Amino acid sequence: MKTLENKTVVIIGGSQGIGLETAKEAIEKGANVTIASRSLEKLENAKNYLNGTVAIYQLDGSKEDEVKTFFDKFEKVNHLVVSSSGGYGGAIKELDMEAAKGLFDSKLWVQMNAVKHASPKMGQGDSITLFSGIVSKKAIVGQMPYTGIGGAVESLGKMLALELAPTRVNVIAPGFIHTTAWDAYMPEEEQKEFFTGFAETVPVKQVGVAKDVTKGVLFFMESDYVTGAVLDIDGGQKLV
Ligand SMILES: NC(=O)c1ccc[n+]([C@@H]2O[C@H](COP(=O)([O-])OP(=O)(O)OC[C@H]3O[C@@H](n4cnc5c(N)ncnc54)[C@H](OP(=O)(O)O)[C@@H]3O)[C@@H](O)[C@H]2O)c1
Repeated sequence: MKTLENKTVVIIGGSQGIGLETAKEAIEKGANVTIASRSLEKLENAKNYLNGTVAIYQLDGSKEDEVKTFFDKFEKVNHLVVSSSGGYGGAIKELDMEAAKGLFDSKLWVQMNAVKHASPKMGQGDSITLFSGIVSKKAIVGQMPYTGIGGAVESLGKMLALELAPTRVNVIAPGFIHTTAWDAYMPEEEQKEFFTGFAETVPVKQVGVAKDVTKGVLFFMESDYVTGAVLDIDGGQKLV
């Protein structure tokens, strides 16, 4: 069903992973979708993957002036999704604090810059979907930046749901999801082995993929009566 016909959907971090699969699904539901990220090459690959049905925009979302210029181009935004992430995590004793700040930039600050400049174009029935992660639910050692960011995003999501009402604001907390994000941590072969082993440890006994999370994002877009919510899409990872 074309439930998003004529809706304007903007996805920052949409050139790969969960953002890209969300773009695909929103387009299939009739939306006009724009994806933004830093790498033009990734954006062009994403456009090819989507058979040219998406608008692309090169943008560093951690830079407020770039985000403002980007949203100035839109008369109206119906659904904003900010799935950007990328950077360095690690154990606190060895952590390179400047690199850790880079992760706050690429995840937390991109989300806040986008919310600030998209929200004036949004209103009743529109939605903002933000991203935390499993480490805001479950302590996993060596995850200082992600844990801090996840907690911040979940708290901010609730506050922003009131501050920006009637625009709805919700948060998705993914567990380990096998996306391109993992290329930064281990080679392809190692990833297969890691995720096969990981699947054995979670209640659902399967590997999470981008489409599993996309279902949650689309749920938030289409559910007019849901705001201030956090949806865990983790195969039960937080329970074990
Ligand atoms: N995959 C998992 O296991 C997992 C687990 C927990 C939480 N999450 C969260 O879920 C969300 C989506 O994850 P994912 O796996 O889809 O990530 P991903 O595959 O790494 O994609 C991240 C996207 O963000 C873009 N990006 C990074 N920095 C940016 C910036 N400064 N400005 C604009 N775009 C930027 C990247 O493109 P460019 O490089 O072109 O900028 C890319 O399109 C993230 O918030 C992530 O932390 C994922």
